[in-house]
Amino acid sequence: MPLTRRKLLHYASALSAASVGGCSEDASSSEGSGTDGGSTGPEPSSSSSGAPMTSTAVDESSSSTGFDDGLPEYEWEGEPGPQTLFSHGVASGDPLADAVILWTRVTTEEAGALQAFFEVAVDPDFEMRVAAEYIETSPERDHTIKLDLQNLSPGTTYYYRFYTQGRVSPIGRTRTAPADGVERMRIAFCSCSNYSGGYFHVYRRIAERADLDLVLHLGDYIYEYAPSPADVRQAEPPNEILSLDDYRTRYATYRTDLDLQEMHRQHPVVAVWDDHESANDSYEDGAQNHDPEFEGDWNDRKAAAQQAYAEWMPIREGMPGLIYRALPFSDLVQLVMLDTRLAGRDLQADGTDDPEVLDDPERQMLGMEQEAWVMEQLASTDAQWVLVGQQVIMAEVLIGENPINPDQWDGYRTARQRFYDMAEMVDNMVVLTGDIHSSWAFDLARDPQGDYDPETGAGSVGVEFVTPAVTSAGFPTNAANAALISNPHLHWAELTQRGYVVLDIDTIRIEASWWWVEDVENPAGDEERFASAWVLEDATRHLVEATEPTEPPADPPPLAP
Ligand SMILES: [Fe+2]
Repeated sequence: MPLTRRKLLHYASALSAASVGGCSEDASSSEGSGTDGGSTGPEPSSSSSGAPMTSTAVDESSSSTGFDDGLPEYEWEGEPGPQTLFSHGVASGDPLADAVILWTRVTTEEAGALQAFFEVAVDPDFEMRVAAEYIETSPERDHTIKLDLQNLSPGTTYYYRFYTQGRVSPIGRTRTAPADGVERMRIAFCSCSNYSGGYFHVYRRIAERADLDLVLHLGDYIYEYAPSPADVRQAEPPNEILSLDDYRTRYATYRTDLDLQEMHRQHPVVAVWDDHESANDSYEDGAQNHDPEFEGDWNDRKAAAQQAYAEWMPIREGMPGLIYRALPFSDLVQLVMLDTRLAGRDLQADGTDDPEVLDDPERQMLGMEQEAWVMEQLASTDAQWVLVGQQVIMAEVLIGENPINPDQWDGYRTARQRFYDMAEMVDNMVVLTGDIHSSWAFDLARDPQGDYDPETGAGSVGVEFVTPAVTSAGFPTNAANAALISNPHLHWAELTQRGYVVLDIDTIRIEASWWWVEDVENPAGDEERFASAWVLEDATRHLVEATEPTEPPADPPPLAP
């Protein structure tokens, strides 16, 4: 792409504010939680194998012409290594106003440490670099590389790539969080991407949207099951995953998918796990799909699952195993990501409608530490919108008089009442949910069958949007009418389709639009169509239907070539 005068001026303004935050694993490196004004979460530790490498780098503001940036160039003498060295693509995530996580993996069987190199620029031709450095990776972290690149400029699109053994990775594109005063953001969110269940058309459609600032993945990024002859695609290894090696191999299978690689290559992703990154219907001390008699100690399996997640996902972590965290996007959005699975959840109350169990105040969904942390987040933010990315449906869902799923917040009703109390501390609480492989839009009514008013939203503390799955099967027929009849705070539901949701956020409203793909079992079934859209106006705590999706902004930053 030629460097036009307009682009040069744009890049120069980004560069003049930027200094280089290179990252290495050498003796001078220091580990930290990010930068001033950055994400908050449990305090970090240097013992996490998936923790990003960070270091303080020299100020390169003198590179603002871009033609003699003083940064190292990649050098390699001799025959290049195999062409397959970057078979798992590149990724970025957890953007702050001045930092972002960059990720890749070297695909190799080598037993020792490997040298690699990365470079970052504000243009896709790498004429205006802001960072470049040699780094190392090793089998101890499954040859993954994770960098916390710091001292970047807010609201800026960056391009990055890695080198090793004379080979270069695909070019990734990422974007930092905006500075205060930004008036619009576009965020896609998705969940439940079972490789065995179909093709990742949803990821491809998300990748093609140059107008997105960010993608949220709300969990079930992988599934733990053993392959079955009925699978659309066969995942490795050929068994239910239990060991660290198994979990790593399963991530490696998923990341060979070119549609998934493309989504990561084009957009920063903020991810949390749901149950299947460990085992079905997991909670802090076990899982429905874990039998300690035959599958070993749950804590060993959970630790293996968490380590592989940390290695393979572009996530900025706190303490090992703790992924709940908050990311500010100027004064427009405070993004709060929760862990309703492994941090503090008690065993599901399966098979009971006993109110003494469902209303037991001792039964935890988040755990007391995470709940106290949420309280701090909501008490201290003055962002226009609080987006809470989490796993299971929060709103009450009855069929007749009975809750349909004790794995959802319906099984932890007093914990939910406490969350609703906290939600009322902010004007605009927007809960984003995955897990259930279907499309839903709710007002978060405290007492849906009581004093809640479906016309005005009176009695609601916020709203909830639920994304359909990327591939995982929904329900065989659309039984949504039964749910709509029993739940006056449920505005819309559809239970059979796969797809994703786009949030268009400005200073006075959020519009959520649902997009469905044609057929995930057909490699050619990748067409998408608009399904429905719902709007939350400022301080109404109530959804109203929209007739069509919003227009994307003109002239978004170019996709990575
Ligand atoms: Fe799922």
